[in-house]
Amino acid sequence: MAVDYTIRDGIAVITLDNPPVNGLGHSTRLGIVEGIERAREDAAVSAIVITGAGRAFSGGADITEFNTPKATQEPTLHTVIQAVEGSAKPVVAAIHSVAMGGGLELALGAHYRVAAPGAQIALPEVKLGILPGAGGTQRLPRAVGLETALNMIVSGTPVLSEKLANTALFDAIAEGDLLDAAVKFAKDAGARSGPHPKVRDRKVVHPNAEGFIQFARNSVAAIAKNFPAPHKCIDAVEAGVKQGFDKGLAFERECFLALVQTPESRALRHAFFGERAASKIPDVPSNTPVRAIERVGVIGAGTMGGGIAMNFLNAGLPVTLLETKQEALDRGLATIRKNYEAQVKKGKLTAEKLDARMALIQPTLAYDDLADADLIVEAVFEELGVKEQVFSKLDEVAKSGAILASNTSTLDVNKIAAFTKRPQDVVGLHFFSPANVMKLLEVVRGEKTANDVLATVMQLAKKIRKTAVVSGVCDGFIGNRMIEQYIRQALFMLEEGALPAQVDRAIEKFGFAMGPFRMSDLAGNDIGWAIRKRRYQEQPDLHYSRIADRLCETGRFGQKTGAGWYDYKAGERNALPSKLVDEMVIAYSKERGIERRKIADDEIVERLVLALVNEGAKILDEGIASKASDIDMVYLTGYGFPLYRGGPMLYADTVGLYNVERAIRKYAAQPNGDAWAPAKRVTELASQGKGFNS
Ligand code: 3HC
Ligand code: NAI
Repeated sequence: MAVDYTIRDGIAVITLDNPPVNGLGHSTRLGIVEGIERAREDAAVSAIVITGAGRAFSGGADITEFNTPKATQEPTLHTVIQAVEGSAKPVVAAIHSVAMGGGLELALGAHYRVAAPGAQIALPEVKLGILPGAGGTQRLPRAVGLETALNMIVSGTPVLSEKLANTALFDAIAEGDLLDAAVKFAKDAGARSGPHPKVRDRKVVHPNAEGFIQFARNSVAAIAKNFPAPHKCIDAVEAGVKQGFDKGLAFERECFLALVQTPESRALRHAFFGERAASKIPDVPSNTPVRAIERVGVIGAGTMGGGIAMNFLNAGLPVTLLETKQEALDRGLATIRKNYEAQVKKGKLTAEKLDARMALIQPTLAYDDLADADLIVEAVFEELGVKEQVFSKLDEVAKSGAILASNTSTLDVNKIAAFTKRPQDVVGLHFFSPANVMKLLEVVRGEKTANDVLATVMQLAKKIRKTAVVSGVCDGFIGNRMIEQYIRQALFMLEEGALPAQVDRAIEKFGFAMGPFRMSDLAGNDIGWAIRKRRYQEQPDLHYSRIADRLCETGRFGQKTGAGWYDYKAGERNALPSKLVDEMVIAYSKERGIERRKIADDEIVERLVLALVNEGAKILDEGIASKASDIDMVYLTGYGFPLYRGGPMLYADTVGLYNVERAIRKYAAQPNGDAWAPAKRVTELASQGKGFNS
């Protein structure tokens, strides 16, 4: 049963009971309407309380029902709210923990609302690419005022119940037992004769509503460039203010039905579920016990080690930071402090918190100081010999059961694990740079990594606010393995006829935060060069354009040398197209006997994105990633793939795998076609008419 009905002291208590968050799926909606009718027919009942069991009042409409027949099956949420609002016996919503989306809209349909302090109140629909579709854009402004409501609707950000205590949203904030308070409130209300107040009857009072709405419109213009929903939220609120409740409600409904069909909403919902799905590992049961992590060790205080340490410090975990030399340690500590100071300057951190975080660091040059760490993350030089030294030493000093992690970006985690006598405790934790900022964490599962180690690091990732995605062991793991194919295509296109700025412009227009050449200049062209040099040895048959090597031979490593694919003015980061590089590219084509052709922007985008898709499909074929949405999460959180497109694999689904396969075969037949062997999964899904996420 999704809804429980009981009588308490002459009051009907309707308890939503649809774990995990009392989503308003069809059976819950039905249960509410039946509860209201039952209460109406029971002469012994004078009033009704609606509340939620477990961890929420309600998290809103059941998102899994969207675009399925159940979403529109009666009673819809509209019908439910009408039944609540139209009830002759007063209805009191007893709100605790979470009242979001349709949950809040349901509460707004009640005659009275009593809330526990600390409840998160939100209309977060905009984050799913839609707008509140059950009266939220109409009733919330009438309950909390135009400004607060518009801010909440357009941002989707939760506000704590006590912060809204002085608005008409809440009739009381209950400090003690919520249900007791709500039942008492309902009893008093039931003793009064009706009619009982309805939010819809209130007026939106504002000295300059039109001005504020225009201000809101200007404010969202920049942030909501690729998303239609924030604009529609404002339009719907405006419709209600100007044309009254009923017309506003009808307009809101129209907008909701249109938005729920948009690719942007599909992408945002995919990301919502993808993030949660990523934390589940198919063969690691959710009840796997976890190891306690109370103290962390970080080895290497360079670019990555410092940022990695900050993640744990921010979560209140003490960190022992180990280096080989005092000066490297001092430098690392100074960088961490500098990063925190920058946050203090921006008002994002208090000076006290800075001190508290720095006080959690124990700097050391001695491995023995790592003996009590529960987790040790290594971020030393990317050389297998150095990793061997570190892991052999850790095997000697780390306590039994400690998790030993490597931040390696290219080395074989199984080999690293084999440097110890406890490979089951070894895992890859691949943070992205800057490690204190980037959301993505690739968790690299070695052949022998124990289930409880995986369960522990996945839980820890949540604590340090990372999106963790599990990858099997392979060269580059999920993200870098795919980006290599993307960069390979970018370089091929240079020798075939494009120039760096054109390639970047085309893919940035598609929505990437940064094109491949600007990105390489930022990361350092020497990094890719080192990887290619290794490939030339290990996989001599793999065909690369040598154009990037040419660039590196001239010392143009990117921003750090003041020149790369672009020119840079001293102290500036603006990428200026370089005549010298363009000439170098053209000369290279000539030297190779390649007749340069005009490459259309569409081809640039298609080749870059499909290179990611095809490699992503191979990653699925090999079981390196367990699901397509994991790959999308890697690209959305670590590589600047446009959120409104939902990641490369969802984008491929949108294009259709039949079309994807045809394009791959077309490119396979062209010059540099050897990079385009279609993945088995692409061919299979295309022939079955399915997608990666179907
Ligand atoms: N529908 C379906 N499933 C939902 C859901 C919803 N509205 N909200 C959460 N869930 C599921 C999650 O997918 C997850 O499932 P899983 O355990 O199988 O992975 C589970 O509930 C728990 O979610 P979280 O891990 O996110 O739990 P937290 O405790 O961290 O957070 C929460 C709870 C704050 C409710 C958070 O889940 C959340 O923000 N949910 C989305 C709320 C939302 O967007 N509501 C609006 C829905 S649209 C709507 O109401 C339309 C209406 O206007 C007509
Ligand atoms: P870095 O050169 O900035 O820092 C490495 C630090 O390790 C130096 O401070 C050095 O003194 C210290 N060190 C070296 N040997 C040591 C030892 N035996 N014991 C203790 N400390 C030692 O290097 P960076 O960039 O921080 O990389 C570290 C690791 O992180 C590498 O494995 C790299 O592949 C990986 N990585 C790097 C990313 C990046 O963008 N820089 C991204 C993701 C992973």
